[in-house]
Amino acid sequence: MLDEDGIARAQYATLDPLSVRIETHRRYSARPDDIEASVDEAVVLRDTADLLDIGCGTGSYLRRLAASGHAGRLVGVDASPAAIAALDGVPGVTAVGADAQELPFEDATFDVVTLRHMLYHVPDPGRALREARRVLRPGGTVAALVNLEHTTPLLHEASRRPLAAFGVRRPEFWLKVHSGNLPGLVGDVFGNARVHRHDNELVFDSPGPVAAYAVSCLTGYGITADDPRRDAMVAAIEAYAVALFDEESPRRDPKGYVIVTAHRP
Ligand SMILES: C[S@@+](CC[C@H](N)C(=O)[O-])C[C@H]1O[C@@H](n2cnc3c(N)ncnc32)[C@H](O)[C@@H]1O
Repeated sequence: MLDEDGIARAQYATLDPLSVRIETHRRYSARPDDIEASVDEAVVLRDTADLLDIGCGTGSYLRRLAASGHAGRLVGVDASPAAIAALDGVPGVTAVGADAQELPFEDATFDVVTLRHMLYHVPDPGRALREARRVLRPGGTVAALVNLEHTTPLLHEASRRPLAAFGVRRPEFWLKVHSGNLPGLVGDVFGNARVHRHDNELVFDSPGPVAAYAVSCLTGYGITADDPRRDAMVAAIEAYAVALFDEESPRRDPKGYVIVTAHRP
Protein backbone atom coordinates (compact mmCIF):
# COMPACT_ATOMS: atom_id res chain seq x y z
CA MET A 1 0.00 0.00 0.00
CA LEU A 2 1.47 3.35 -1.08
CA ASP A 3 1.53 6.60 0.87
CA GLU A 4 0.47 9.90 -0.76
CA ASP A 5 3.93 10.60 -2.21
CA GLY A 6 4.15 7.08 -3.63
CA ILE A 7 0.67 7.38 -5.10
CA ALA A 8 1.61 10.63 -6.84
CA ARG A 9 4.60 8.89 -8.47
CA ALA A 10 2.92 5.55 -9.22
CA GLN A 11 -0.34 6.94 -10.56
CA TYR A 12 1.21 8.22 -13.77
CA ALA A 13 4.10 5.75 -14.08
CA THR A 14 2.14 4.51 -17.09
CA LEU A 15 -0.49 6.61 -18.79
CA ASP A 16 -2.94 3.72 -19.44
CA PRO A 17 -5.24 4.36 -16.44
CA LEU A 18 -5.41 8.08 -17.33
CA SER A 19 -6.27 7.15 -20.93
CA VAL A 20 -9.13 4.90 -19.70
CA ARG A 21 -10.61 7.83 -17.79
CA ILE A 22 -10.22 10.29 -20.68
CA GLU A 23 -11.79 7.77 -23.09
CA THR A 24 -14.72 7.14 -20.69
CA HIS A 25 -15.54 10.86 -20.72
CA ARG A 26 -15.13 11.05 -24.49
CA ARG A 27 -17.44 8.11 -25.20
CA TYR A 28 -20.11 8.40 -22.55
CA SER A 29 -20.73 12.15 -22.15
CA ALA A 30 -24.35 13.04 -22.84
CA ARG A 31 -23.27 16.11 -24.79
CA PRO A 32 -20.05 16.41 -26.78
CA ASP A 33 -17.54 18.36 -24.72
CA ASP A 34 -14.10 19.12 -26.07
CA ILE A 35 -12.22 20.16 -22.92
CA GLU A 36 -9.07 21.15 -24.81
CA ALA A 37 -11.08 23.45 -27.11
CA SER A 38 -12.81 24.93 -24.04
CA VAL A 39 -9.40 25.86 -22.61
CA ASP A 40 -8.39 27.56 -25.88
CA GLU A 41 -11.67 29.48 -25.83
CA ALA A 42 -11.31 30.50 -22.17
CA VAL A 43 -7.83 31.94 -22.72
CA VAL A 44 -8.75 33.34 -26.18
CA LEU A 45 -5.68 31.55 -27.52
CA ARG A 46 -3.78 33.36 -30.28
CA ASP A 47 -1.72 31.08 -32.51
CA THR A 48 1.41 33.15 -31.84
CA ALA A 49 1.20 32.67 -28.05
CA ASP A 50 4.12 30.98 -26.28
CA LEU A 51 2.28 28.36 -24.22
CA LEU A 52 3.33 26.21 -21.25
CA ASP A 53 1.10 23.23 -20.33
CA ILE A 54 1.89 22.09 -16.77
CA GLY A 55 0.99 18.44 -16.04
CA CYS A 56 0.74 17.70 -19.76
CA GLY A 57 -0.19 14.00 -19.23
CA THR A 58 -0.78 12.13 -22.49
CA GLY A 59 0.39 15.19 -24.43
CA SER A 60 -2.73 15.25 -26.60
CA TYR A 61 -3.35 18.98 -25.99
CA LEU A 62 0.10 20.08 -27.16
CA ARG A 63 0.16 17.54 -30.00
CA ARG A 64 -3.12 18.89 -31.26
CA LEU A 65 -2.00 22.53 -31.08
CA ALA A 66 1.21 21.66 -32.94
CA ALA A 67 -0.76 19.79 -35.64
CA SER A 68 -3.06 22.78 -36.07
CA GLY A 69 -0.06 24.92 -37.04
CA HIS A 70 0.31 26.87 -33.78
CA ALA A 71 3.14 29.33 -34.43
CA GLY A 72 4.16 30.17 -30.82
CA ARG A 73 6.37 27.98 -28.61
CA LEU A 74 4.67 24.89 -27.16
CA VAL A 75 6.22 23.50 -23.98
CA GLY A 76 4.96 20.72 -21.72
CA VAL A 77 6.04 20.04 -18.14
CA ASP A 78 5.23 16.90 -16.18
CA ALA A 79 6.63 15.07 -13.16
CA SER A 80 6.03 11.69 -14.87
CA PRO A 81 8.76 10.36 -17.18
CA ALA A 82 6.00 8.50 -19.13
CA ALA A 83 4.33 11.84 -19.92
CA ILE A 84 7.62 13.32 -21.17
CA ALA A 85 8.27 10.20 -23.27
CA ALA A 86 4.77 10.51 -24.78
CA LEU A 87 5.82 13.82 -26.38
CA ASP A 88 9.19 12.57 -27.53
CA GLY A 89 9.79 13.48 -31.17
CA VAL A 90 6.55 15.46 -31.59
CA PRO A 91 7.49 18.27 -33.99
CA GLY A 92 7.08 21.75 -32.54
CA VAL A 93 6.72 20.57 -28.91
CA THR A 94 9.32 20.58 -26.12
CA ALA A 95 8.66 18.39 -23.08
CA VAL A 96 10.49 18.94 -19.80
CA GLY A 97 10.45 16.71 -16.71
CA ALA A 98 9.91 19.01 -13.71
CA ASP A 99 7.78 19.74 -10.67
CA ALA A 100 5.04 22.34 -11.07
CA GLN A 101 6.25 23.90 -7.80
CA GLU A 102 9.71 24.65 -9.19
CA LEU A 103 9.63 25.43 -12.89
CA PRO A 104 12.95 25.42 -14.78
CA PHE A 105 12.15 28.60 -16.76
CA GLU A 106 13.16 32.26 -16.58
CA ASP A 107 10.67 34.84 -15.33
CA ALA A 108 8.24 36.18 -17.97
CA THR A 109 8.82 33.48 -20.59
CA PHE A 110 5.25 32.54 -21.66
CA ASP A 111 2.03 34.24 -22.81
CA VAL A 112 -0.24 31.42 -21.62
CA VAL A 113 0.17 28.85 -18.85
CA THR A 114 -2.32 26.00 -18.48
CA LEU A 115 -2.73 23.63 -15.50
CA ARG A 116 -5.37 21.15 -16.61
CA HIS A 117 -6.71 18.55 -14.17
CA MET A 118 -3.51 18.53 -12.13
CA LEU A 119 -3.47 21.03 -9.23
CA TYR A 120 -5.01 18.49 -6.80
CA HIS A 121 -1.89 16.34 -7.20
CA VAL A 122 0.51 19.12 -6.22
CA PRO A 123 1.47 19.20 -2.53
CA ASP A 124 1.28 23.04 -2.47
CA PRO A 125 -1.12 24.25 -5.19
CA GLY A 126 -0.55 27.92 -4.23
CA ARG A 127 3.17 27.49 -4.88
CA ALA A 128 2.43 26.01 -8.34
CA LEU A 129 0.19 28.98 -9.13
CA ARG A 130 2.90 31.42 -7.99
CA GLU A 131 5.35 29.64 -10.30
CA ALA A 132 2.82 29.93 -13.16
CA ARG A 133 2.56 33.66 -12.45
CA ARG A 134 6.34 34.07 -12.34
CA VAL A 135 6.89 32.50 -15.78
CA LEU A 136 4.02 34.46 -17.38
CA ARG A 137 4.75 37.71 -19.19
CA PRO A 138 2.86 40.76 -17.90
CA GLY A 139 -0.58 40.63 -19.53
CA GLY A 140 -0.26 36.85 -19.96
CA THR A 141 -3.06 34.44 -19.05
CA VAL A 142 -3.23 31.43 -16.75
CA ALA A 143 -5.94 28.78 -17.08
CA ALA A 144 -6.41 26.23 -14.29
CA LEU A 145 -8.97 23.47 -14.80
CA VAL A 146 -10.45 21.22 -12.11
CA ASN A 147 -13.63 19.20 -11.63
CA LEU A 148 -16.78 20.41 -9.92
CA GLU A 149 -16.68 19.68 -6.21
CA HIS A 150 -19.21 16.82 -6.42
CA THR A 151 -18.62 15.56 -9.94
CA THR A 152 -19.41 11.96 -11.08
CA PRO A 153 -20.76 10.63 -7.76
CA LEU A 154 -21.64 7.30 -9.37
CA LEU A 155 -18.09 6.72 -10.66
CA HIS A 156 -16.56 7.78 -7.35
CA GLU A 157 -18.80 5.36 -5.44
CA ALA A 158 -17.96 2.56 -7.89
CA SER A 159 -14.42 2.52 -6.51
CA ARG A 160 -14.93 3.96 -3.01
CA ARG A 161 -17.60 1.52 -1.81
CA PRO A 162 -16.11 -1.82 -2.92
CA LEU A 163 -12.67 -0.73 -1.64
CA ALA A 164 -14.06 0.34 1.73
CA ALA A 165 -14.88 -3.35 2.31
CA PHE A 166 -11.09 -3.98 2.14
CA GLY A 167 -10.40 -1.18 4.63
CA VAL A 168 -9.02 1.05 1.83
CA ARG A 169 -10.03 4.71 2.01
CA ARG A 170 -10.10 7.38 -0.66
CA PRO A 171 -6.97 9.58 -0.32
CA GLU A 172 -7.64 13.13 0.82
CA PHE A 173 -5.89 14.71 -2.16
CA TRP A 174 -8.70 13.56 -4.45
CA LEU A 175 -10.80 16.30 -2.92
CA LYS A 176 -8.10 18.93 -2.38
CA VAL A 177 -8.67 21.39 -5.26
CA HIS A 178 -12.11 21.69 -6.87
CA SER A 179 -14.56 24.24 -8.26
CA GLY A 180 -15.31 25.46 -4.74
CA ASN A 181 -11.81 26.58 -3.78
CA LEU A 182 -9.94 27.07 -7.09
CA PRO A 183 -11.26 30.61 -7.80
CA GLY A 184 -9.98 31.73 -4.37
CA LEU A 185 -6.59 30.08 -4.87
CA VAL A 186 -6.15 31.75 -8.27
CA GLY A 187 -7.50 35.09 -7.04
CA ASP A 188 -5.03 35.11 -4.12
CA VAL A 189 -2.06 34.74 -6.50
CA PHE A 190 -3.19 36.85 -9.48
CA GLY A 191 -5.51 39.42 -7.88
CA ASN A 192 -8.19 38.52 -10.45
CA ALA A 193 -10.04 35.37 -11.51
CA ARG A 194 -12.81 34.49 -13.95
CA VAL A 195 -14.75 31.22 -13.74
CA HIS A 196 -15.90 29.36 -16.86
CA ARG A 197 -18.21 26.52 -15.79
CA HIS A 198 -19.10 23.48 -17.93
CA ASP A 199 -21.87 21.07 -16.84
CA ASN A 200 -22.59 17.73 -18.45
CA GLU A 201 -23.38 14.13 -17.49
CA LEU A 202 -22.21 10.65 -18.30
CA VAL A 203 -24.74 8.07 -19.48
CA PHE A 204 -23.95 4.36 -19.16
CA ASP A 205 -26.15 1.50 -20.33
CA SER A 206 -23.92 -1.34 -19.10
CA PRO A 207 -21.60 -2.02 -16.15
CA GLY A 208 -18.38 -2.60 -18.16
CA PRO A 209 -17.24 1.02 -18.58
CA VAL A 210 -18.19 1.90 -14.99
CA ALA A 211 -16.08 -0.98 -13.68
CA ALA A 212 -13.19 -0.17 -16.04
CA TYR A 213 -13.13 3.44 -14.81
CA ALA A 214 -13.21 2.34 -11.16
CA VAL A 215 -10.38 -0.16 -11.76
CA SER A 216 -8.34 2.62 -13.43
CA CYS A 217 -8.51 4.48 -10.10
CA LEU A 218 -6.91 1.68 -8.05
CA THR A 219 -3.39 3.16 -8.13
CA GLY A 220 -4.92 6.44 -6.98
CA TYR A 221 -6.00 4.56 -3.83
CA GLY A 222 -2.44 3.29 -3.34
CA ILE A 223 -3.13 -0.20 -4.73
CA THR A 224 -0.26 -1.31 -6.95
CA ALA A 225 -0.37 -3.94 -9.73
CA ASP A 226 1.39 -6.48 -7.47
CA ASP A 227 -0.87 -5.95 -4.44
CA PRO A 228 -2.08 -9.47 -3.47
CA ARG A 229 -5.60 -8.11 -2.86
CA ARG A 230 -5.88 -6.51 -6.29
CA ASP A 231 -7.69 -9.36 -8.09
CA ALA A 232 -10.25 -9.58 -5.30
CA MET A 233 -10.71 -5.80 -5.42
CA VAL A 234 -11.27 -5.86 -9.19
CA ALA A 235 -13.84 -8.64 -8.73
CA ALA A 236 -15.61 -6.62 -6.01
CA ILE A 237 -15.68 -3.53 -8.26
CA GLU A 238 -17.12 -5.55 -11.15
CA ALA A 239 -19.80 -7.10 -8.91
CA TYR A 240 -20.71 -3.64 -7.56
CA ALA A 241 -21.08 -2.28 -11.12
CA VAL A 242 -23.24 -5.23 -12.23
CA ALA A 243 -25.52 -4.74 -9.20
CA LEU A 244 -25.94 -1.05 -10.09
CA PHE A 245 -27.37 -1.98 -13.48
CA ASP A 246 -29.54 -4.76 -12.02
CA GLU A 247 -31.27 -1.98 -10.07
CA GLU A 248 -31.60 0.55 -12.89
CA SER A 249 -30.43 1.18 -16.44
CA PRO A 250 -29.29 3.40 -18.03
CA ARG A 251 -27.33 5.12 -15.27
CA ARG A 252 -26.73 8.87 -15.43
CA ASP A 253 -23.85 10.53 -13.60
CA PRO A 254 -23.77 14.36 -13.36
CA LYS A 255 -20.37 15.90 -13.95
CA GLY A 256 -18.62 19.11 -14.82
CA TYR A 257 -15.51 21.20 -14.50
CA VAL A 258 -14.44 24.80 -14.17
CA ILE A 259 -11.69 26.63 -15.99
CA VAL A 260 -10.47 29.54 -13.90
CA THR A 261 -8.57 32.13 -15.92
CA ALA A 262 -6.61 35.12 -14.67
CA HIS A 263 -4.27 37.73 -16.11
CA ARG A 264 -0.84 38.58 -14.82
CA PRO A 265 -1.05 42.32 -14.18
C1 LIG B 1 -4.96 13.84 -14.19
S1 LIG B 1 -3.47 13.98 -15.11
C2 LIG B 1 -3.95 15.26 -16.24
C3 LIG B 1 -3.14 15.25 -17.52
C4 LIG B 1 -3.57 16.30 -18.54
N1 LIG B 1 -3.34 17.65 -18.07
C5 LIG B 1 -5.03 16.12 -18.91
O1 LIG B 1 -5.84 16.96 -18.54
O2 LIG B 1 -5.34 15.11 -19.56
C6 LIG B 1 -2.35 14.82 -14.00
C7 LIG B 1 -0.96 15.03 -14.57
O3 LIG B 1 -0.22 15.90 -13.70
C8 LIG B 1 1.07 15.38 -13.51
N2 LIG B 1 1.58 15.87 -12.21
C9 LIG B 1 1.17 15.52 -10.99
N3 LIG B 1 1.85 16.19 -10.04
C10 LIG B 1 2.72 17.00 -10.69
C11 LIG B 1 3.69 17.97 -10.27
N4 LIG B 1 3.89 18.24 -8.97
N5 LIG B 1 4.41 18.61 -11.21
C12 LIG B 1 4.20 18.35 -12.53
N6 LIG B 1 3.30 17.46 -12.99
C13 LIG B 1 2.56 16.80 -12.08
C14 LIG B 1 0.87 13.87 -13.56
O4 LIG B 1 2.09 13.19 -13.82
C15 LIG B 1 -0.16 13.74 -14.67
O5 LIG B 1 0.43 13.64 -15.94
